[in-house]
Amino acid sequence: MAKKRISSGIDGLDGMIEGGFIEGQILLLAGNAGAGKTTFLTQFIHNGAVRYGESGMFVSFEEPKELLFENMQRYGWDLAALEKKNKAVFLEYPTQDVEHFLSHENIIRDTIEENNIKRVAIDTITSYALIYETEYKRRQEVARLLNKLRKWGCTIMMSSESYMSDREYKIRFGMDSLCDGLIYLYNIREAENRVRALEVMKLRGTNHAQRIVPLRFTEKGIVVYPNEHVFESGRIYKRKD
Ligand SMILES: Nc1ncnc2c1ncn2[C@@H]1O[C@H](COP(=O)(O)OP(=O)(O)OP(=O)(O)O)[C@@H](O)[C@H]1O
Ligand SMILES: [Mg+2]
Repeated sequence: MAKKRISSGIDGLDGMIEGGFIEGQILLLAGNAGAGKTTFLTQFIHNGAVRYGESGMFVSFEEPKELLFENMQRYGWDLAALEKKNKAVFLEYPTQDVEHFLSHENIIRDTIEENNIKRVAIDTITSYALIYETEYKRRQEVARLLNKLRKWGCTIMMSSESYMSDREYKIRFGMDSLCDGLIYLYNIREAENRVRALEVMKLRGTNHAQRIVPLRFTEKGIVVYPNEHVFESGRIYKRKD
């Protein structure tokens, strides 16, 4: 039987991934500073709740909740109202509190069960990993966290602050193999401009699009355009010609 898929909540993306993510998968959203990671994750949670009636949880290791609510208002997303109606839970762990996240695991699991939460967003896994001092320990702790998250039974999307090397994102802490899916958000420099784009790099169990496609911020959030070219010339960024 075909596995149940859940919509990404991003207009244009579901058609590139056989209709959505397989329920219960852990997905990594990689991008550099300002690539749109927080917006993407918020949209995943907001549209999941509003369009599909699936409750969500947003765990922020970055922006304080109030600031997130304020920043996302411009897309017409009333996150405070969602929270009031128990359609979404927003948790914030400022840098000095990140280590408390795992010790709250039981409370978080209870919240997930009580609210029938289907989607979880974590912004960013990089901030989580960096509380550990060595690269070895970071890998170990990220793997441990992912093991725990899998048991929650939710579809989980985590963002990762990534940098480019030789035109490819470097994914830290071994997360490229630990996660079921990898989505890249690009903010590519082309002469004096920057062009935004998205790529589905890997998605287990899914015959996904292989193209890098344009991404734009609209009044309703992020939209991707699978039938358009990233550059007017039609040249695809990754091709080394
Ligand atoms: N309405 C808009 N139109 C175009 N670009 C926008 C709009 N709103 C935000 N942006 C761009 O998106 C960026 C913020 O998006 P977001 O916070 O989702 O990115 P991020 O990858 O989480 O960034 P950070 O690295 O700061 O966490 C802004 O810095 C700006 O470049
Ligand atoms: Mg962010």
